[in-house]
Amino acid sequence: MSQTPTRADFDQYMVPNYSPQKAIPVRGEGSRLWDQEGREYIDFAGGIAVNSLGHCHPVLVEALTKQANTLWHLSNVYTNEPALALARTLVERTFADKVYLCSSGGEANEAALKLARRWAHDNFSEHKSRIVSFSQSFHGRTFFTVSVGGQPKYSQGFGPVPGGIVHGEFNNLASVRDLIDDDTCAVMVEPMQGEGGIVPATQEFLQGLRDLCDAHDALLIFDEVQTGVGRTGALYAYMEYGVTPDILTSAKGLGGGFPVGAMLTTDRVAPALAIGTHGSTYGGNALASAVALAAVEYIATPAVLDGVKQRHDLFREHLEAINRKHGVFKEVRGMGLLVGAEMAPDYEGRAKDILPLAIEEGLMALIAGPNVLRMAPSLVIPEADIREGMARLERAVARLVAAK
Ligand SMILES: Cc1ncc(COP(=O)(O)O)c(C=O)c1O
Repeated sequence: MSQTPTRADFDQYMVPNYSPQKAIPVRGEGSRLWDQEGREYIDFAGGIAVNSLGHCHPVLVEALTKQANTLWHLSNVYTNEPALALARTLVERTFADKVYLCSSGGEANEAALKLARRWAHDNFSEHKSRIVSFSQSFHGRTFFTVSVGGQPKYSQGFGPVPGGIVHGEFNNLASVRDLIDDDTCAVMVEPMQGEGGIVPATQEFLQGLRDLCDAHDALLIFDEVQTGVGRTGALYAYMEYGVTPDILTSAKGLGGGFPVGAMLTTDRVAPALAIGTHGSTYGGNALASAVALAAVEYIATPAVLDGVKQRHDLFREHLEAINRKHGVFKEVRGMGLLVGAEMAPDYEGRAKDILPLAIEEGLMALIAGPNVLRMAPSLVIPEADIREGMARLERAVARLVAAK
């Protein structure tokens, strides 16, 4: 029998681009996880806003096992029922008329950016190619998406960055006015910056981008990879804002833990991705589509979406109570169950130091940059788990404060 893998195997066998925590979870149920030693954790990380229904939710397990016993994969030489049903439900529930399926957020954004360039090329001219995005934004790790993203550290050292990309300041419409003209093909923006520090866009900013795009025949792309599928308390965050994009990307929570992504767009724009212009072997994979369909249909109900808003209030109350006692946070912010706590000046850059302490206390959390503690739990996390997780977080915070 082969030996049980250990954390040391990571350093020996894996490319060193990650630095995972020491504990190796082996089992999950709802919002709880257990590691190799049988230690239990409450999960406020949710696989970075992926496990939208927690771990091993019966509805997703049923969809996956049913599909696993039926049909796994065909490629796009053939289509399949789960992919068609997923596309139909996404169209019926959103602004979109057409859907492109893929396997990750980066891939969905890559498709969105290529679509925008191709649409402008086909309908206007090859000069209409400029893409506007924002500092601190994050859109994935393919070389196109990392270049559109507003964090240069992720593209540095990888050679010439693709051209025709400019960055404005998030939530600063004036900074965008000079960047957009008739040569702009698209503006890409997260309705709430996730990796950039859990910063919601203002209503005026998103509406202003919509107006600028309309004035210059540019496409508005909302990257809802992190904010989508119920995360903010609406099926997609654009619905909260009442500002409709031309292209929307979705991944992460879409599959509840199964890799899947989608790009949504309109009949006006979709034809630019004509036969043969773009593709992906795994796009519309039957297993992924069956799970995503079950996830969307479960989440897109008032019970789940209203529950996200109620849980948001609970998260906020607990974090503010911790802060009243320990004074570590400057601000608690976010929407729905994407919640950030920015560290106070005395603890500048110390959010990352909370994570290992939290693990020792039995809590998994996240950061969004070194200065923001981030939480993106299951959308249906039980209240008791929120309370217990916050008690554990408070112990971790108290240890951070005591060690100062
Ligand atoms: C807003 C946003 N876009 C895109 C991505 C990339 O998604 P993926 O890692 O699935 O490629 C992420 C991942 O964190 C994200 O938060």
